[in-house]
Amino acid sequence: MTGPLDAASLAPELEAHLADAEGLALSEVEGLFCLLTIPVRKELLDRMPRLRVVSNMAAGVDNVDVAACTARRIPVGNTPGVLTDATADLTMALLLSAARRLPESAQDARTGHWKTWSPTGWLGADLRGATLGIVGLGKIGRAVAERARGFGLRIVYTNTSPRPDVEAEFGAAFLSFGELLRQSDFISLHCPLTAATRGLINEAALRKMKPTAILVNAARGPVVDAAALTRALAEGRIAAAALDVTDPEPLPPEHPLYALPNCLIVPHIGSATRGTRRRMAEMACENLLAGLEGRRLPYCVNPEVYEKPVFSEKTGF
Ligand code: GLV
Repeated sequence: MTGPLDAASLAPELEAHLADAEGLALSEVEGLFCLLTIPVRKELLDRMPRLRVVSNMAAGVDNVDVAACTARRIPVGNTPGVLTDATADLTMALLLSAARRLPESAQDARTGHWKTWSPTGWLGADLRGATLGIVGLGKIGRAVAERARGFGLRIVYTNTSPRPDVEAEFGAAFLSFGELLRQSDFISLHCPLTAATRGLINEAALRKMKPTAILVNAARGPVVDAAALTRALAEGRIAAAALDVTDPEPLPPEHPLYALPNCLIVPHIGSATRGTRRRMAEMACENLLAGLEGRRLPYCVNPEVYEKPVFSEKTGF
């Protein structure tokens, strides 16, 4: 299956595939191994009454309705931890590429616009002494802080709660979201996609950033309002953006963001190293097999499904 999917169109597509390839019906499916492109919503779950495990080959589970799975006592597995380094490495690659204008300058070299060495040609941003604002200081945010220190960046962050360990290790300062936007030269997003973070980088947030600011998103596309970002970049209200994730994915080739020389877009490759993808696949298989065999998933995002059900007067359970 390719292209963006929605839950409503997925069930018939999956159904046809199962029937053709496996001679199975959706109602017979007991285990689901899915990628982050597969929306696992109530509509699909309703069609799979025998489902006993959902194994998502990703750290993020925003494509899965975890609450609906929990309500059905279906454990949901993910692949945390193993993609931290690969994603943090890609974040730094994006940040450096945007800071030093690699896409534009490489294009100019290839197309004959490199006429001479010029003292003012392709000038970019300095890193040493500049401020990096990290939005979401989980495992990946921390790994980005670790790398950024090596480049002499000052680190500020915002998070659901302060992280004194990271403050002590990297001299990072906890700021409110608004203050982080105002102070940062580079802003890197590492929060999960939730109801609270959807559209976090909207028109108002972009207007708080410096005109020289560079935005990096290797988290989830919908954390950024793509239309607002397009306007901010086109009007020069921020300097550049480097995106590993977009909304929608894939971003269609005619999208105006591609036409902007100050916007670098790569196709969601944060975890795309051979070793990382192998480990993610292994963990997802371990989760799937555990679920099918009735064992506890080794990497489970809703372990409450293993707790004894609490009797409720209302439901009778
Ligand atoms: C990749 O984006 C993941 O969440 O694993």
